[in-house]
Amino acid sequence: MVEKRLSDCAEIASLVALAGDILSLSGVENPQIEAEVLMAEALGTSRSGVFIRLREEPAQAARGRFISLVERRSAREPVQYILGRQDFSGRIFTVNPAVLIPRPETEILAREGADFLKGLNSPLAADIGTGSGCIAVTLALEAPESFIYAVDSSRGALQTATANAEQNGAIESVEFLEGDLLQPLSGRGLQGRLDLIISNPPYIPTDDIQGLQPEVLYEPKAALDGGPDGLDALRRLVHEGPAYLRPGGRLTLEMGYGQAGAVRDMIDAEPGLHFEKIILDFAGVERIISALKR
Ligand SMILES: C[S@@+](CC[C@H](N)C(=O)[O-])C[C@H]1O[C@@H](n2cnc3c(N)ncnc32)[C@H](O)[C@@H]1O
Repeated sequence: MVEKRLSDCAEIASLVALAGDILSLSGVENPQIEAEVLMAEALGTSRSGVFIRLREEPAQAARGRFISLVERRSAREPVQYILGRQDFSGRIFTVNPAVLIPRPETEILAREGADFLKGLNSPLAADIGTGSGCIAVTLALEAPESFIYAVDSSRGALQTATANAEQNGAIESVEFLEGDLLQPLSGRGLQGRLDLIISNPPYIPTDDIQGLQPEVLYEPKAALDGGPDGLDALRRLVHEGPAYLRPGGRLTLEMGYGQAGAVRDMIDAEPGLHFEKIILDFAGVERIISALKR
């Protein structure tokens, strides 16, 4: 259907306009912009490169690429998976269905972590649930004296994260470890030595996942599912994290809408921690919580 209607269009302008209508009918939020982005990808140019070629007829191969990209996007596959990349804190990260697409609010988390590490002498940090590696790589590059252990239970995620560390020039400062939350850190002499544990863990309550935007359902379930109340991983990080932090070290966690009170209670109940602060995201949601090791 998409192919048939798009193949009736001759010029780039009419292809983009019709693709915008198709994406709009599919429920895509910014259909016109995304149609332009997909055309830029099909032509191997930028969005402004599309604008100067609007009156041209694209070559057959580019037209075919565009139709296939529009078909994928109209099935609500995330545009980041279609393009294979996402910007995070000004750097490009490869993304694919093995990893969560990095979100803008996680840039705030990474900045908090980097600012904490910057003043320290050869700091050590652990990024738990590293996914694409966006947090670990950002810490390594913005706090260049630091060394980061980046853990994930997903081998596919770790492969992507390793590629991202290589592409962004951070591979010397990050060690990737496969396993369950903090478990891969044990046996490495790290107890009581980390300056920072940072994590954006899965925190969506299991029953809420099906009701999310269709795009989210393309992302790995292990990156989303936080158990019945969404707090499974957060609970374990608050409980198990202090053993790895040095006195004054920091635990910084991203959390979901409405979870701040519960996570604060967990921190208050943990003898090894004292609450430090909560930071709001761009929408005013309590998104990041920090505690210090006593
Ligand atoms: C919400 S994603 C965060 C990815 C990335 N840090 C980011 O902020 O974009 C959570 C990540 O935690 C990983 N994960 C889930 N449960 C885990 C566990 N028990 N141990 C280690 N990693 C886990 C998932 O595979 C996923 O990559």
